[in-house]
Amino acid sequence: MGQERRISELRKLLHKYNYMYYVKNVSVVSDFEYDRLMVELIELEQQRPDFYDPNSPSQRVGSDISKGFSQYSHIYPMLSLDNTYSEEEIELFFDRVATLLNEPFEICCELKFDGLSISLTYADGALVRAVTRGDGAKGDIVTENVKTIKTLPLRLVGDSFPKEFEIRGEILMPWSSFEILNKEREREEKQLFANPRNAASGTLKQLNPAIVAARKLDTYLYYLLGEDLPSDGHYENMIMAHSWGFKVSEHMRKCSTLQEVMDFIHLWESERKNLPVATDGIVLKVNSIQQQKILGYKAKSPRWAIAYKFQAERVLTRLNGVTFQVGRTGSVTPVALLEPVQLSGSVVRRASLHNADIMDNLELHLGDMVFVEKGGEIIPKITGVDNRSRSMLAGDKISFITRCPECNTKLVRIEGEAAYYCPNSSECAPQIKGRIEHFISRKAMNIEGIGTETVDLLFKNGLIHNFTDLYSLKVEDISHLQGLGEKSASIIVNGIKKSIETPFERVIFALGIRYVGETVAKILAREFKSMDNLMKASYEDLIQVDEIGEKIAQSLIGFFADVANIEKIERLRSIGLRFEIFDSENYKLSNRLTGKSIVISGVFEKHTREEYKEMIQMHGAKNSSSISAKTSFVLAGENMGPVKLSQAKSLNIPIVRECDFLKMIE
Ligand code: IVH
Repeated sequence: MGQERRISELRKLLHKYNYMYYVKNVSVVSDFEYDRLMVELIELEQQRPDFYDPNSPSQRVGSDISKGFSQYSHIYPMLSLDNTYSEEEIELFFDRVATLLNEPFEICCELKFDGLSISLTYADGALVRAVTRGDGAKGDIVTENVKTIKTLPLRLVGDSFPKEFEIRGEILMPWSSFEILNKEREREEKQLFANPRNAASGTLKQLNPAIVAARKLDTYLYYLLGEDLPSDGHYENMIMAHSWGFKVSEHMRKCSTLQEVMDFIHLWESERKNLPVATDGIVLKVNSIQQQKILGYKAKSPRWAIAYKFQAERVLTRLNGVTFQVGRTGSVTPVALLEPVQLSGSVVRRASLHNADIMDNLELHLGDMVFVEKGGEIIPKITGVDNRSRSMLAGDKISFITRCPECNTKLVRIEGEAAYYCPNSSECAPQIKGRIEHFISRKAMNIEGIGTETVDLLFKNGLIHNFTDLYSLKVEDISHLQGLGEKSASIIVNGIKKSIETPFERVIFALGIRYVGETVAKILAREFKSMDNLMKASYEDLIQVDEIGEKIAQSLIGFFADVANIEKIERLRSIGLRFEIFDSENYKLSNRLTGKSIVISGVFEKHTREEYKEMIQMHGAKNSSSISAKTSFVLAGENMGPVKLSQAKSLNIPIVRECDFLKMIE
């Protein structure tokens, strides 16, 4: 069979499987078979760039192309909805509609999803553009990012859709993805996202679609616009949209009476807790588009719709104190200690105060009655103080501490950051224990048999002072410790021994260098190949590397300048930990580009950016992110960034086109 025919066949098949899986929730092929077909398609597409289709199912994996966003003026402005928290106002809305229409009508009730709105344009059944709400008149074009959302059809099913139309909906991060993402950020000591909406919006604004693809967003569509829609009914149009492949909420209901509307509201006020995504209310829409036109619009919102917002659950409780927690990297977080109180089904005893600025703004006093909210957040927060209840005997405002609560060292604040740090990293107990816990964690050295409690036990008994001490532990040293015994002790010692084989990139991650998360550790391993090279790297060498910025480079330089860290590294070396990437990873195709430092810019035709990066390495050169006098040449595709172009010109750096580069390494 010809390549072209096979490519079309595979695209059709994979579109169908996606639709069945993501929209119909039926799995018609095994994951293995699906992956096999996808690999075949990707390989064929690489051989036939002339047969490129921006909406091929293969485009969902998210390319690595970084672009700033361009703006697009909405054809139909993206309006907002009138909001209310009161049932009386819902009644008034219902009565007003009844009076203005003076004929029977239906209200479509649906969930108000708490994400960010998106407008999608389809032409001839294919997605052509995805634009954010922006200021309502114009928004950012985020098509590449949106394409990575698996529940969104790139090509529609059947042939009953209008030739061109817009469909609007919400982009969401499901609770499950949100929790995974925040756990990961917690481990890497990055600022947590407060709620799934912020996480979804932060994700969609990423310039790198590959990151968007990894973060698992979802969509619900709720509004169809265009000239020749299939039905006069909004509800009916959404059912049609579902049949074309869009994910539409199954919790929509047409109501004819106010009582039915109220029943829907009351049902979801409690049931929403069981949904996989965040919702913040109910939207009521007059169902007939004819009638919507009769009712018309106000300046910023339609007269035919209203949103009933759920009250964020909030309780008042007493502030018993503020404690300060010291993390692995020494950052100090204030935590409010509360009189235990019931909130959204659980007892709340503590609430994060995030940092010194947030804490100061609240002006807390011991014994204050404070408002605690859960809302869309998983960690409860204090949203205010009930000043009326402040006792006349209340003491001074609670202020942020100046010394470490664990080791009494004077705290420091890094310029431009909200957090205070304890600089005594080598002797402050929670920092030492935190680093050991990080070292043994699953994504680092993955040492079986040890958890937080064991680390605490070993530390308290003076058996470990830092992570290198783990490798000296013997079964007889620890088997007598409380709760361990011979069997657990040997599991621990074996687990530690086994970890010596851990790949180099995870060893870098395990060292717990500030800002060096899993991804950065991988990049460093790939670029520098050995611990010695990494330790020798200068600040300039580091920031030359793609995706390594000033903050990370400074942190690495600081880390390797500390004698205590060097001692630990040397000890790990003598124990035999992997300090180099594997020979097979180190494998080179040629030395044709040895010593060169190459910057990639623009969009390529024959290979992806990732592939070019790999080729650069395989032929002995280094990938670098910014142009400097050291740059050997720029490998340029289409639409090379204007800043890079002018930098290259002013430094007289040669620009090499894709085909010439391929000839160079042929
Ligand atoms: S309809 C002209 N339906 O709420 C009306 N909006 O304040 C168009 N939203 O920006 C919107 N769930 O992001 C509609 N089922 C739903 C919705 C919904 C969430 C959001 C949307 C919009 C905001 C309105």
